[in-house]
Amino acid sequence: MTDAAQAIKAVDYEQPQDELEGGSVCATKHAWARVPVEPSATERAALKDKIRRLLKEKNAVMVSHYYVHPDLQDLAEDTGGIVSDSLEMARFGRDHAATTLVVSGVRFMGETSKILSPEKRVLMPDLDATCSLDLGCPVDAFNAFCDAHPDRTVVVYANTSAAVKARSDWLVTSSCALDIVKALKDEGHKILWAPDRHLGGYIQRETGADMVMWGGSCIVHDEFKAFELQELLREHPGAKVLVHPESPAAVVALADAVGSTSGILNAARQMDAKEFIVATDNGMMHKLRTLNPGKTFLEAPTAGNSATCKSCAHCPWMAMNGLLDVARVLETGANEIHVDPALGQRARLPIDRMLAFTAALKTGSVPKGLVAHIGAA
Ligand code: 13P
Ligand code: SF4
Repeated sequence: MTDAAQAIKAVDYEQPQDELEGGSVCATKHAWARVPVEPSATERAALKDKIRRLLKEKNAVMVSHYYVHPDLQDLAEDTGGIVSDSLEMARFGRDHAATTLVVSGVRFMGETSKILSPEKRVLMPDLDATCSLDLGCPVDAFNAFCDAHPDRTVVVYANTSAAVKARSDWLVTSSCALDIVKALKDEGHKILWAPDRHLGGYIQRETGADMVMWGGSCIVHDEFKAFELQELLREHPGAKVLVHPESPAAVVALADAVGSTSGILNAARQMDAKEFIVATDNGMMHKLRTLNPGKTFLEAPTAGNSATCKSCAHCPWMAMNGLLDVARVLETGANEIHVDPALGQRARLPIDRMLAFTAALKTGSVPKGLVAHIGAA
């Protein structure tokens, strides 16, 4: 039914260490990141006050992902911003009246915000905060892959560059990928999928869609281990397993719920179990624990017999976001995201389609032919 999976070359994430200016290096699987030094409690309080003041002065709002430091999650919410999954980050930034968005997360999140709001100033704490999926899908190779499959609808995950998005027909995040691919399949589309092979494989198994796939993966979720997870489950027989679909198939197979970061949060709130094992970045634990005080959350195992490194289940690039840099970029206007306007206009098309589709989904069922209708718009 499908062509052979497309393998990509291994990507070297290493960066020259002489670029470091303080902080420490997370060298997990060669992923290079400048992890900020944790400020003291007094410094943190002062930085938070400063950020609150600057947000008002600069007509700015914070848009944070669930994987960043708890301070950046709480401060975003306390100041009228948002902490959410990547889909809601995009929607919130587009719809908010602020003229400056401070996006704490990784680069593709800032770029998506800029593409959706070219008139706004989008700042990020650290412009080097990237993603292994984005790095592993360079646009020239991706274009060649698309050229080799001209009969397929190109569906691209949000964790990609603006240039890759600009080549796609549809953008998806993990919270809507299943619904969008299912609707495309129902309307007769064959799919070219990029870049995450685990998410792609999950969607293929669930929908039966005809998909050819890029071979990228997330360096964090790729490390979750099914064998060790089963052992942990034996020690905690009542625990429910919550899994992000960027995880390997054998881990997804053990899940009681599979979903985006928001999907995981919803599942934890709705299920009446007292104990959960969570296979996603451990930045997620902050919200899971604060919103579910009577429940216990355990991290799914990463480093086991078959592990190639001792992963800490925390994205080294998400870890680059810190209070000090949020204050600095608000004060100085540094680290502004720029996207070429023509490229941005083309890249906006698949993002708008996704947002139109998910808005329709929220109101109830998606009418037949909606995909064709949105695609033609
Ligand atoms: P979500 O869209 O689920 O927030 O995921 C983004 C991400 O980078 C997961 O690793
Ligand atoms: Fe990318 Fe994985 Fe980090 Fe998410 S957790 S930003 S997919 S490297």
